[in-house]
Formats: sequence, structure tokens, C-alpha cells
Amino acid sequence: MAKVETKDKPTVLITGTSTGVGLYTAIRFAKAGYEVVATMRDTTKKKALKEAAKAAGVKLRVDRLDVQSRSSIEGCVKRTLKRYGRIDVLVNNAGAGFLGSLEQTSDADLKRTMGVNFFGVWNTTKAVFPHMRERGTGRIISVTSVGGLIGQPFNEAYCAAKFAVEGMMEGFAPLARRMGVAVSLIEPGPINTEFVANVRAVSAAGLANFQPPYDAMIAKYMGSSEGVFAQFGQTGDDIAGIILEAAQAEQPHFRYITSDFAKQIVKPKVAEYTGDAVVDAFAARLQ
Ligand SMILES: NC(=O)c1ccc[n+]([C@@H]2O[C@H](COP(=O)([O-])OP(=O)(O)OC[C@H]3O[C@@H](n4cnc5c(N)ncnc54)[C@H](OP(=O)(O)O)[C@@H]3O)[C@@H](O)[C@H]2O)c1
Repeated sequence: MAKVETKDKPTVLITGTSTGVGLYTAIRFAKAGYEVVATMRDTTKKKALKEAAKAAGVKLRVDRLDVQSRSSIEGCVKRTLKRYGRIDVLVNNAGAGFLGSLEQTSDADLKRTMGVNFFGVWNTTKAVFPHMRERGTGRIISVTSVGGLIGQPFNEAYCAAKFAVEGMMEGFAPLARRMGVAVSLIEPGPINTEFVANVRAVSAAGLANFQPPYDAMIAKYMGSSEGVFAQFGQTGDDIAGIILEAAQAEQPHFRYITSDFAKQIVKPKVAEYTGDAVVDAFAARLQ
């Protein structure tokens, strides 16, 4: 096989860049001088990203990657390595919410929610990591949520998936560090992106069938959520800035809780916000 040239510029591969945080992250990294492989499951949705890149005066490469398909992930990683010879940063951003209590969540909804938010992160990381391990360097940054630390009603499936990512990455971070790769989690509270509209769309059938005692509770919960998004919501670009910060930090933290509001939500759970003490302790046991 012909030897691939390693290009000078660092390369970032980002999942879920058709909208929201992923789109802004692609632009931020391109502006910062990275080769950006901006992936999406449906590349016919690339118009918004391409327009944003044009407005910012940057170039990036759009490629197809559906985090629910292992062959799609592996194909994209292979193409990226063939073209650029390196992946310096992986941003696991793709995600999808679902509204429904345990009783209302069908097997199909549970599988899809776990598939996008957890197995997608697992499989994409597994596809990229061997390459980073061989180079002895890399950054793996995953967008989870305060819902990965604090369970929230009607978000049982989504929180289970984000908790799973937290557990996976906290377990993996000390091993990865020993091989030169830094693992970080980005934990936002509310962000004003397409996310909520997408959650409502995929949950619409279930929501229409809510019966007592859940119907009154979900109405209350969704009403109060709207106020929280309006008052405390960050922008996709705010989160993109924090992702870039994690990618460029000399010693990135394990955990980035992205706002004071988000820190208030998780306060009962974490006493030490950066999460570094846990990773430090287990990394020390590997030396
Ligand atoms: N918005 C919030 O309030 C909030 C809060 C905390 C954490 N987060 C997390 O932040 C991340 C970004 O979300 P966002 O707010 O930017 O939401 P968003 O605007 O809905 O963007 C989600 C992105 O994920 C993509 N995606 C969904 N399924 C996919 C699949 N199977 N393969 C590849 N891509 C897929 C979507 O692509 P399509 O356009 O094809 O659907 C879209 O590009 C997610 O991990 C989310 O869980 C969001």
C-alpha cells in the first residue's frame, strides 16, 4: 500500500455538523487553522454549513458519517486518514434527544436514543483511537450534557445514554492518557439550537398519547423548560468555543461544564468541577 503523506496542519473530525454545535465547531476549528472534516449523516444538508464557511472565509471538507452505522464510521475514518494522514482531534458531537418516561419509551425509541448518543460515540472513538495510539498523540472530545450527570424526568433514555458516555470516557481517560491521548467531556446545560425542535419531532407520536398521570406532568415540565432555555440557554457558538479551548489546551481538563447555570444543576453531584482528580487517581494506578 502506498505510504500516506502526513500533512502539516492538524486535522479534526467532527460528527453531526449539519446544524447547531457541530456546525459552529467546524467553523471555529477552520478559523483556527485546522483541516476540518465536517461530517453529517445526510450530506444533502450541507448548505447551512457551506454558507457559514463562505461567510467566515474558510474552507472545510464535508463527508458522510452516520454514527449509527459502523461501516459508515469506518469508511469516513479511512477516507480521512488516506487524505490527510492524521486525525489530531475527534469531536463526538452528534446527538439526539427523546422525550418520554420509561413507560412511554418504545424499544425502537430506546434503541435509537442509545444508538445515536452512546453506541455512536463508542464506535467512532473505537475507529479513530488506534491511529491516535500509534502516533502517541490526540484529543478525543465528546459533547455529553448535564443530563450525563443528573437524570431528568421524561429524559430517561437520553440521560441513560449520556450517563453511559460519561462512564465509558471516565474509564477510558486514564488508559488513553498513558498513550498520549487526552479525553475530555463537554457538559452543556440548555443550548438554543435545533435540538429541542428535533426532540419534539421525534417524540411527537409518543407525546400525543400521553395519558394520566403523565399528561399533566409533561405539560408542566415542558412549560418550565421553555423558560429555562430562554433565560439560561447558551449558543451553539459558545459551546464550540469551549470545544476548541479543550482541543488547544496544553493540559485539557477531563470535564468542561459550560456555564454557571449548568454548574448549579450538577452541584449536588460533583464537588470538583474539572473531574481531573478522578482521572489523576486512576492514571496514577497505571504507572
Ligand atoms: N441543545 C441542547 O440543549 C443540548 C444540551 C446539552 C447537550 N447537548 C448535546 O449537544 C450535542 C449537539 O446538539 P445540538 O444542540 O447542536 O443539536 P442539533 O442542532 O439537533 O444537532 C444535532 C446534530 O447531530 C446530528 N445527528 C443526529 N443523528 C445522527 C446520526 N445518526 N449520525 C450523525 N449525525 C447525527 C444531527 O444531524 P441531522 O441534521 O441529520 O439530524 C445534527 O447535525 C448533542 O450531543 C446533544 O446531545 C445539547
